[in-house]
Amino acid sequence: MKANGRPLVALDVGSSKVAVLICERRTDGRLELRAASLEESRGFRKDTLVNFNAAVEAIRQAVEAAERTAGTAVDSAVIGVAGSHVRSVNSRGGIPLAPRVREVVPEDIRRAIEAARSVSLPPEQELLHVLPQEFLLDYQDGIRDPLGLLGRRLEVNVHIVTAAATATQNLIAAVNRAGLLVEDTVFEPLAAAEACLTPDERELGVVVVDIGGGSTDWLSFERGAPRVSGTIPVGGEHFTNDVAIGLRTPLWEAERLKRSYGCAAADGASQDTLFEVASMGERPARVISRRALCEILEPRAQEWLALLRDSLERAGVEHLPAAGVVLTGGAAQLEGLVDLGAETLRVPARLGLGRGLLGASGTLANPACAVAVGLILHANRLRELQRNQNSGFVHRLRNLLNGKSWAARA
Ligand SMILES: Nc1ncnc2c1ncn2[C@@H]1O[C@H](COP(=O)(O)OP(=O)(O)OP(=O)(O)O)[C@@H](O)[C@H]1O
Ligand SMILES: [Mg+2]
Repeated sequence: MKANGRPLVALDVGSSKVAVLICERRTDGRLELRAASLEESRGFRKDTLVNFNAAVEAIRQAVEAAERTAGTAVDSAVIGVAGSHVRSVNSRGGIPLAPRVREVVPEDIRRAIEAARSVSLPPEQELLHVLPQEFLLDYQDGIRDPLGLLGRRLEVNVHIVTAAATATQNLIAAVNRAGLLVEDTVFEPLAAAEACLTPDERELGVVVVDIGGGSTDWLSFERGAPRVSGTIPVGGEHFTNDVAIGLRTPLWEAERLKRSYGCAAADGASQDTLFEVASMGERPARVISRRALCEILEPRAQEWLALLRDSLERAGVEHLPAAGVVLTGGAAQLEGLVDLGAETLRVPARLGLGRGLLGASGTLANPACAVAVGLILHANRLRELQRNQNSGFVHRLRNLLNGKSWAARA
């Protein structure tokens, strides 16, 4: 199958890794992975860019590695944005249609969304997404697509996501310096949701939770639309730090042990499985049991779940939705974490893996790549919108309302 147009490029600059995916859109419309590269990230402390040149170098390396594999140079990408500087708020806005009842036309929808997004933002924040949730016509609510319906007043509920302008600009500047233009910026949990969630889960209600290195970002869905989001400043690095302190071992060793033998439930970990642990400095290696390692990880996992629950409650999610939680991001791979999540939060829980790309089994099997897969899906939709530019506003609007473009750009 031949490729159709320029390659689609996703760039997820995390605090632990930089992921680059290069995909082709085939003539049958399906997306095929040409290259995936994961390189160690540099220049971040938690979710903040603290060393510009180091970050540029890490991005450049990841991009070049993917270009070599794909055998093609790329010049632009869709990038992810996340972290404690991101804020979100729900808003409602509306417009009168006419003194008398009339049909809703596309321009009404545009103006209603415009009215809903005109909330006053803190001075340092800029708009990232305005995501329509549902429309209201006169006294009828829960309308997905009001085009053609009759009414006197059209209103819309939207979920607005904003990010600190300087944080986003610094990231874009680093990407630019590494040689790529930024086609669009996407809130990372939204990209993860796009890659991992089923339409049924969104309909029933679900929370997608992206556990990265330095932080955890989440986004909830109900009735098919994003509702609230939040972030907690704890990710996989904190698990590794606890192991390093608890076992008095260097960070690289703590990371290796966590990945190879770690588990979120100490009960199931054998005291008879033994392994060597490097010591600090010149001291000889020691032997410890898997149980000892997991007794360090379990309380951290419990604490992380308590923080997640607090964050959800503070944002107004008192009862977790019926489809429960979908855990994704690299740190979601900790053995037993999904089960512990289900048990503690008392809802269904599963691991979130990306879907929707051909020739990408390795990439799709890695939850650390879910955001990047979602960025590819977003990039594809952007291209679709650009292609349809000439086929009229109504078509684009219908795509938007059908969730085909969840990111009504500011
Ligand atoms: N097999 C594994 N078991 C447990 N944790 C793992 C495993 N593999 C990776 N991790 C953890 O995943 C974390 C990195 O996840 P990810 O690649 O999603 O982060 P990131 O996107 O760079 O970070 P962020 O989104 O916070 O900026 C690291 O803390 C790492 O220790
Ligand atoms: Mg991440």
